[in-house]
This record gives sequence, C-alpha cells and structure tokens, in this order.
Amino acid sequence: MLAAVLSATIVGLEALPVSVEVDVGPGLPTFAIVGLPDPAVQEARERVRSAIRNSHYEVPPRRTIVNLAPGDRRKEGPALDLPIALAVLIATGQLAQHAVTGHLAVGELGLDGSVRTVPGVLAVAQAAQALHARGLLVPEANALEAAAGEEVPVYAIPTLRAAVQHLQGTHPIQTTEGAVLDPPPEDAAPDDLAEVRGQGAARRALEIAGAGGHNLLLIGPPGVGKTMLARRLPTILPRLSGAEAVEVTKIYSVAGLLPAWQGLITRRPFRAPHHAASAPAIVGGGSSARPGEITLAHHGVLFLDELPEFRHDVLEGLRQPMEDGIVVVARAAGTVRFPARFSLIAAMNPCPCGYRGDGRRDCTCTPGRLQHYLARLSGPLLDRIDLHVEVPRPPTDELLSGNPGEPSSAVRERVTVARMRATTRAAACQAVGLPLRGPQRWGPVSAEALAFMRAAADRLVLAARATERVLRVARTIADLEGAEAVAVHHLAEALRYRVLDRWAPPAP
Ligand SMILES: Nc1ncnc2c1ncn2[C@@H]1O[C@H](COP(=O)(O)OP(=O)(O)OP(=O)(O)O)[C@@H](O)[C@H]1O
Ligand SMILES: [Mg+2]
Ligand SMILES: [Zn+2]
Repeated sequence: MLAAVLSATIVGLEALPVSVEVDVGPGLPTFAIVGLPDPAVQEARERVRSAIRNSHYEVPPRRTIVNLAPGDRRKEGPALDLPIALAVLIATGQLAQHAVTGHLAVGELGLDGSVRTVPGVLAVAQAAQALHARGLLVPEANALEAAAGEEVPVYAIPTLRAAVQHLQGTHPIQTTEGAVLDPPPEDAAPDDLAEVRGQGAARRALEIAGAGGHNLLLIGPPGVGKTMLARRLPTILPRLSGAEAVEVTKIYSVAGLLPAWQGLITRRPFRAPHHAASAPAIVGGGSSARPGEITLAHHGVLFLDELPEFRHDVLEGLRQPMEDGIVVVARAAGTVRFPARFSLIAAMNPCPCGYRGDGRRDCTCTPGRLQHYLARLSGPLLDRIDLHVEVPRPPTDELLSGNPGEPSSAVRERVTVARMRATTRAAACQAVGLPLRGPQRWGPVSAEALAFMRAAADRLVLAARATERVLRVARTIADLEGAEAVAVHHLAEALRYRVLDRWAPPAP
C-alpha cells in the first residue's frame, strides 16, 4: 500500500515542501530511503523503526521503500523522521491516510518515540501556510516559534504516539496560539546608555550612526568605555517591526540557535565575534552552509572589537555583504543567499600598546609598529565606515560623578524620528522616479554648504567615496535636527568624524 505525508526541508532560510511516500510490499524485509537523502536522513531508518516499536506500533518484516519527492533536491537533517514514521504507519494499515492528508509534519524521533526539536520550524510554518495546510505537527519546544506570525493551526507533538492519536481523533491536541508581539519590557534591558559617563562626542556619533544606519569606528585607549558604548547601540535603534522580528527569528531557528520554547525574537541582535574567528564563521558558509555572524546580526548590530586584529580574509569578506545587504554562500548543493543588513560598529586602540595620546601613560610603540598596525585596516573596508571618532580617557571626576547620562529611550526617540524623515524623503524620490542613490537622496544642500564641501575635499584630499560619505552623514545630522537642507554646520560636524583621514591616508 502506498502512503504519502507532507513535510519540508530547509534550503538557506526557506523551507521547501517534501512529499514523503512509503511503499510497503512483499519481499525480503528491507528499509530503503531514496530521493537524495543526506546521511542524517539515512539514519532515520534506525530511529524510525525503534520509535515505531517503542510507541507500541508494528514494523512488519516486509520490503519498505521511502521516497522523498521531488527527487532532485537534497534533503537535510532529521526533521523528516516524524513524517516518515507516519507514512510507514499509513502504509502498514495502522493509521488512515485521510486522517493525515493535508497536514504537514516535521520532527526528529528519539528511539523511545519522543519527538525532538528541529531547526527552521518558523520557515516550515510559512511553507505550510503557503500550501494552505490543514495543520502543522511540530515538536513541542518549537510550537511557539511555529505559531508566531502564521495562521496555520499548529499542534505541539510530544511523541509519535501522541501524533497518531491526535490525527485519529482519539486524543486531540489543542492548537498552539501565537503570542502577540510584545515589546520587551523596558526595565529588562540589560544595558542602557545612562550608565555611560561623559564621552559626549562618542555618544553623539553613536546617535548619528543609529539614525542614519552609518557604520562607526571607536578609537581610544583601554578602559574608556568603547565596548560599553558599542553594546548599547541596539538599545537606541527603533524597535523591530513584526516582519523584521519574523525574519530574525527564522535566521536563528535555521542556525539552530533559537532557544527551545521561544516565540518571536523581539530584540535587535547584537553579535560580537572574536577577532580570531574564521571567514566562514563570520561571513557564512563552510561545510555546514550555516548563516555566519553577519547574518545573525541582520537587522541588528555587528561589533568587531579590536578591528585591526581580525583576519585579513574576514575583513575583505565583509565588503560585498556590506554593500549589498546579502551574502551568497556556496555549498555542495548549489548556492544560497542569506540576508546580512547590519550596523557595523568597530573598536580599536590608537596604537598597538594602546596608550598613544593618552595622558596617563607613555606610548611605547615605534613608528614602524604603528604604521604596520594602521595598515592592517584595509582601505576598502575603512571606506565603508562613515564615522571614526576618538574616545579619550574621561577626567576622573566625570567617571566618579553620580550623574547618569541620557537614557537610551530618549535617544531612541530622536533616532526613530530622524529615520522616519529619511524614509519619507526616499519615498518622495521614488515617487518622482529619482534614483535612490546619489545627491537627490540628500535633499537640498545649501549653496554655501556645497562650496564648503568642495574646499574641504580639496584641503583634506578626500577620495570621491569619502566625500559622499561625509555628505550622507551630514544629511543624517540635518535629519536629527529636523532641518530641510544640509547646511555648513552639518558638514562641519560630519567632517569631525573622519579621524583616520587625518592620521594616515589609506594605502593605495
Ligand atoms: N565612560 C564610562 N562610563 C562609565 N563606566 C566606564 C566608562 N568607561 C569605562 N567604564 C568602566 O570601565 C569598564 C571597561 O570599559 P570598556 O570595556 O567599555 O572599555 P574599552 O574602552 O572597551 O577598553 P578596551 O580597549 O580595554 O577594550 C566598563 O565595564 C565600565 O565599568
Ligand atoms: Mg573593549
Ligand atoms: Zn603605543
């Protein structure tokens, strides 16, 4: 008898439908899986047979063939265990086909028949929705994730036996209700800008970076609060929208990093990979074709602490994704695209010993060592960092004063308003068919400001790209101020955040 159960396999961030067909017939007792299964799917044979027996159903000693259709697509991971087991039970007359038809099932089986959590369930829920499935059977710990944002009825399945009894109607399982998107409670925020004392210039740069989506490099001696400031960037960005939260949750789920019982992720991600991390770990790819740190930072913040210590191939690998907001990852079964639109914030010391320009201690670096250190920052990557600012050591009384800085919530309000202004202007450009890149995007620029910019570009020998960056930052500063046109003082401030242009011209 032929049986079919609907399931899905993950490719990149998406779930593609898979039809699990089982044929049980006369012949030697064998159990074969065909249709491009990967090793984890092959191992399903043992898990499925044990799980069925230990759930008090039978595996008749007959010739069993499992076909995963379509056959030209590689099927990955153990998520097909549950649909395979259900199809075997149908093919052997222990479960009615019509009870299952229209349902989609995913889940790994334990030998005891328990259903274990699998990655990518939110993507599977979206596929089930697109197929207008009657119901979606998922591991219990994935149920909140599956119910987040989709309408298809979700059933949290603890065991194979519970799945069968639910489908037969003898012990129906309640649908899992998707939790509404609650903003995280303000007091639960782990970090707040209020804790940072002094550092007015760096705080201002952080606000501009947040408002304009600019990348930011903080340069200063040890222990002045660079890491502290970087960690607080997510707290001043606008809250994730519902659609963004779904996207972020999908990424973490596919990467196997979504905690069990978690619904939507509602906080912006903050990723701080170590400087020794490999290019596949940061950019993505490698044998597992997992999303890298830049994808885990999508809609959030990527923090590169000790920027010059990062591997050269890592820094090079960041350039294209930073331009496109997408990373293309090669793998055995073709390439996949992962989103990677993040705010980059980086930190570094002003020199290898850390104390250059710090009044407290003398710098012990030779000019040669300093040159080598600065040269490690690749020119093309620096070109994509709009703001570089010095973070000096604050006076001791400023550090010791009990005065808290402005809280993140107040900064977030200004950032959100400035972003709305930029979005409105971009929409207006689009409406009249102007390109989204280029000068039109900056709105009006006063004649004095243009003359000022030309003079500054000549004096500082700014590359064309750097000039454009300065204009973009000035536009964000004008948006924070609520000014229609970019004026001289906006440009003058933007030029202050170009510390490295003054230190060393980028290598040719
Ligand atoms: N401006 C500041 N306001 C409040 N606390 C500060 C400030 N600067 C430093 N601190 C305190 O010093 C600690 C170290 O700061 P942080 O790790 O941010 O320094 P850093 O600049 O990243 O140093 P490093 O170069 O060594 O990484 C913080 O945890 C905090 O307790
Ligand atoms: Mg630090
Ligand atoms: Zn030094």
